[in-house]
Amino acid sequence: MADPLTQQSAWKDLNTHYDQIGSLHLRELFTDDPNRGQTFSLDAVGVHLDYSKNRINSETMSLLIALANQADLPARIEAMMSGEKINVTENRAVLHTALRAPKGADIRVDGENVVPGVHDVLERMGHFCNAITSGQWTGATGKPIRNVVNIGIGGSDLGPVMAYQALRHYSNRSLTMRFVSNVDGTDFAEATLGLDPAETLFIIASKTFTTQETMTNAITARDWLLSGLNADQSAVAKHFVALSTNAEQVTAFGIDTDNMFGFWDWVGGRYSMDAAIGLSTMLAIGPENFAEMLSGFREMDEHYRTAPLAQNLPVIMGLLTVWYTNFFGAQTTAVLPYDQYLHRFPAYLQQLTMESNGKSVRLDNQQVDYATSPVYWGEPGTNGQHSFYQLIHQGTHLIPCDFIAFAKSLNAIGDHHDKLNANVFAQGEALAMGKTLQEVLDEGTPESLAPHRVFAGNRPSNTLLIEKLTPAVLGKLIALYEHSVYTQGVIWQINPFDQWGVELGKVLAKRIIPELESDSADLQHDSSTNQLIERYRSMKG
Ligand code: F6P
Repeated sequence: MADPLTQQSAWKDLNTHYDQIGSLHLRELFTDDPNRGQTFSLDAVGVHLDYSKNRINSETMSLLIALANQADLPARIEAMMSGEKINVTENRAVLHTALRAPKGADIRVDGENVVPGVHDVLERMGHFCNAITSGQWTGATGKPIRNVVNIGIGGSDLGPVMAYQALRHYSNRSLTMRFVSNVDGTDFAEATLGLDPAETLFIIASKTFTTQETMTNAITARDWLLSGLNADQSAVAKHFVALSTNAEQVTAFGIDTDNMFGFWDWVGGRYSMDAAIGLSTMLAIGPENFAEMLSGFREMDEHYRTAPLAQNLPVIMGLLTVWYTNFFGAQTTAVLPYDQYLHRFPAYLQQLTMESNGKSVRLDNQQVDYATSPVYWGEPGTNGQHSFYQLIHQGTHLIPCDFIAFAKSLNAIGDHHDKLNANVFAQGEALAMGKTLQEVLDEGTPESLAPHRVFAGNRPSNTLLIEKLTPAVLGKLIALYEHSVYTQGVIWQINPFDQWGVELGKVLAKRIIPELESDSADLQHDSSTNQLIERYRSMKG
């Protein structure tokens, strides 16, 4: 393994470089290089990335690329994509890229080519979707399926929900799609409100098929269906399918493995929306659009694998995140899609980025002595502008932003789209250039008010400009962030593919459940937790 990060020469060079250019203003950088917009833009696989509004110069980029080379990034990309067991804490390969590999590809795990299995499942999913949408598959009473409820959480929910929303324009509007994730009964109650059980299909999406929230909701769904239909267990076969790696638990729940679409332990939960976990997406948009989405993922995968680091979209975005996180001390990144269809994209990215790189132990088991993943957050434009952008413009935190914009609207109505995009371009410009005190005074602002109206500027952003949101483009965008996350993880020498940090809370919750159900159980927690449990018991009556 490479030297600890902060001892690498590239890191030290970046530190020195930061001292030299960290305080330069984007105004100066743009004045010094009139072609800066072109210099720091990149076009690949139909995605235009303008990263010129970052606090960088050519040397910064060279040093960041040197850092990536010192981390052996090209070899690490190859290791991931060729099926090496890079998820060392779980001894697993990490092959979400195999989920979108072409039919003839050969990618091996333990000597076995996994690609034929991927395509078998995709084909079965396709047949199933066609059977549902054509009405050939009917519920237990003979009625066709009109409602689909996906039950899952984390990677078994966020990807499907995001993709369903993102690709609604391409979706079959005669199917009602709903999603249940929270163990809060309200989620289930509201999602099933008004649905006819005879026309409802439940997709139980869970890699492990043991997740408390999902299994609780699945059991409730089974009760809801059987009591709604006044039917016996045999009705389950016509109303439940499972997406999982755990055939044993699926069978134990009562779902026939004929109605199970499998995947593999080398697909992480948060990387599984293009595996069987995407069944709801395929039902909504159809197998052809789903295949188009996979082709978009694949294009970005190939770009990541083959483009030189300096012309590599995920590498550049990942390295810029490292630059701000580790040298500027930025703690968050905002993702701001200027497309209503992408309104769940930031939520999806939260799991992808933070469950992946929210780590503080390196691959060599040592504690990191530098920051790792920033907090990712965001809302679609222009809503965010009327909410939290104030802080991005004039607050005390440095918040690098990713703007995502499309040249063509999927719903061209009047001048909405020009107005929408005028806003995204204006925001990037305002953040970068700001407005000086002199400019404020020149506008006739009274001196007493002027300081409040100053925009310091020098606030960095990337702008991704793409022609139109299509299934393929969605695949590209997701793969872009997946690989940016991997790039960051490689630099930080951590494992982006485990998630031990979610375990402790799960174990403690299991212990507390019986304590909430009985009022006599002896409580052995800290005084705060004991008190909360006691109060809860008496309040709930
Ligand atoms: O939150 C932890 C986690 O394991 C995620 O990584 C995963 O996406 C989610 O729970 C759901 O897990 P499963 O698909 O096994 O139900």
